[in-house]
Amino acid sequence: MLRTHTCGELNKDHIGQTVTLSGWVDRVRDHGGGKFIDLRDRYGKTQVVIDPDSPKQAMDNVQPVRNEFVIQVIGKVSERPAGQDNPKISTGQIELHVEELNVLNACKTPPFVPNQKDLPNEDLRLKHRYLDLRRKPMQETLVLRSRIIKAMRDYCEANDFIDVETPILGRSTPEGARDYLVPSRVHNGQFYALPQSPQIYKQIMMIAGYDRYVQVARCFRDEDLRADRQPEFTQLDMEMSFVDGDDVIGMIDGMMQKLAKDVLDIDLQLPLPRMTWDEAMTRFGHDAPDLRFGVEIVDLTDIAAKTEFRVFRSVADSGKFVRGICAPNGQSKFSRRGIDDLTKFVQEDFGAKGLAWFRVEEDGTLNSTIAKNFQAEELAEIATRMEAKPGDLVMIIADTWEVSCKALYGLRKRIGAELELYDPKTMNFSWVTEFPMFEHDPEADRWIAMHHPFTAPLESDLEHLDTDPGKARAQAYDLVINGYEAGGGTIRIHDNKIQEKVFGLLGLNAEAAQERFGFLLDALQYGAPPHGGIALGIDRVVMLFNNLENIRDCIAFPKTQKATDLMMEAPNLVETLQLKELGIEITKTDDDA
Ligand code: AMO
Repeated sequence: MLRTHTCGELNKDHIGQTVTLSGWVDRVRDHGGGKFIDLRDRYGKTQVVIDPDSPKQAMDNVQPVRNEFVIQVIGKVSERPAGQDNPKISTGQIELHVEELNVLNACKTPPFVPNQKDLPNEDLRLKHRYLDLRRKPMQETLVLRSRIIKAMRDYCEANDFIDVETPILGRSTPEGARDYLVPSRVHNGQFYALPQSPQIYKQIMMIAGYDRYVQVARCFRDEDLRADRQPEFTQLDMEMSFVDGDDVIGMIDGMMQKLAKDVLDIDLQLPLPRMTWDEAMTRFGHDAPDLRFGVEIVDLTDIAAKTEFRVFRSVADSGKFVRGICAPNGQSKFSRRGIDDLTKFVQEDFGAKGLAWFRVEEDGTLNSTIAKNFQAEELAEIATRMEAKPGDLVMIIADTWEVSCKALYGLRKRIGAELELYDPKTMNFSWVTEFPMFEHDPEADRWIAMHHPFTAPLESDLEHLDTDPGKARAQAYDLVINGYEAGGGTIRIHDNKIQEKVFGLLGLNAEAAQERFGFLLDALQYGAPPHGGIALGIDRVVMLFNNLENIRDCIAFPKTQKATDLMMEAPNLVETLQLKELGIEITKTDDDA
């Protein structure tokens, strides 16, 4: 038997027993002619003692043993000598006195060790991912990930969802990113697309009468990567028949309550709060607001329209917006240099023209280099509207709606973190609903689906499709956790006439729509039930439940920011013969760039 117990299992109850442990050497310390070894596996660590009284076999075999060797030890569990307990670990009251030690495998000098205090750089961690995955935080995250997925699956099972796998080799799905393509050998010149999501398949499952579908689904999107995005990620993908938006939201509310309880032992009050997209943009400047703290956007355009201050006045007169936020006690953190830095931030990151600011004095008055441009009553009105208190810093953006949303969202996020306005360990769940159906792309002068083209408009907004598509709101909902979009879904169009109309607005004429989505338009005419669903980003949920900032730390084998796998060295060049079979000739490589 290679082991009788794990390295996290032994305690005082085992004293006197002879046991066998196997694991990795976490640390070796010399002591009085013998050695202490911390033996580690994913369950914990056990202190192993080899001393001059140990058999010669053990004394000899321990000689070459260093960090990360894989060894097996057989020995007797003993109480640690008085004063040497380690209350921080479950095995801290015992140690193992070795009778036999076998090296199961040696380890070259590793580029880093799992227990080192400072993390090595990420590229090195990704290249030697097997070493990185031995680190306790990584193991804890992957265990939590597994528990989250199990809790999700259990919940779905209890609610009659059927787990169905859908193809990875398919056709382009319109989620808005670039596709990853797979060339066909059998049909030279033709390509499969990896799914950006199983969207169409799950709708077809509803038309096929399966009523409730779920899948832990791999999705592939060739898009610019960020800290919360991977080219290959996992969704909990769900679809339900005979439901409206409230039904889907209610189902996920229940799932979040279970997850929060099972995984974090938090009691979530239901229903989770909801706000419309309009409200989210007005109050927070973003469609996934972080509700762990206040600091809402306040509109000052009407006051700006009355002032003599040219900058505000002209913005207000031209139909743009003057809006601001008030950073509680912001003066303590942001000196003049700090404010210069915030100004640069809104200019460079969000294209704002500038940042107007006021410090709130002890007597409540506003003070700033621009204060002289305002009447005392105007300043008082701004202070009252902003509910500004002594010590606060008022920051104002005068710009278009879009720029003011983006800049104030960015500022709010920064001051929330920098002024420590919330406890980063708290979790906040909410919904944003009624997204617009379409966004306008000014460059191409065309409409783009805000979610995807199968999204149904609100009943009440159907007429806008003919008259003013920009006004049409969708039966769409996003789950927001701590300021991140953790999931998104919609009620789908189940009437092929409306689907054709939406395709038309998106620039797909009848012929093009038939060419790309003919099978769906067809299927919609063979008895399609009203249906809708949602997909949760599992990697993001794991990231948020684990209070991590980088999605790569929640995925066993993630890609870098440049979409490469440093361990497997993918993507890579392939044999000329393989290309020939695929009918592909390379005309440009990275080296040509
Ligand atoms: P959507 O595109 O909003 O919807 O995706 C759903 C959720 O998936 C996560 N997500 C990502 N996670 C990591 N890396 C990425 N690149 C990435 N892109 C998205 C997010 C997001 O909320 N088919 C629809 C769902 C539906 O309508 O039912 C869809 O895929 O957490």
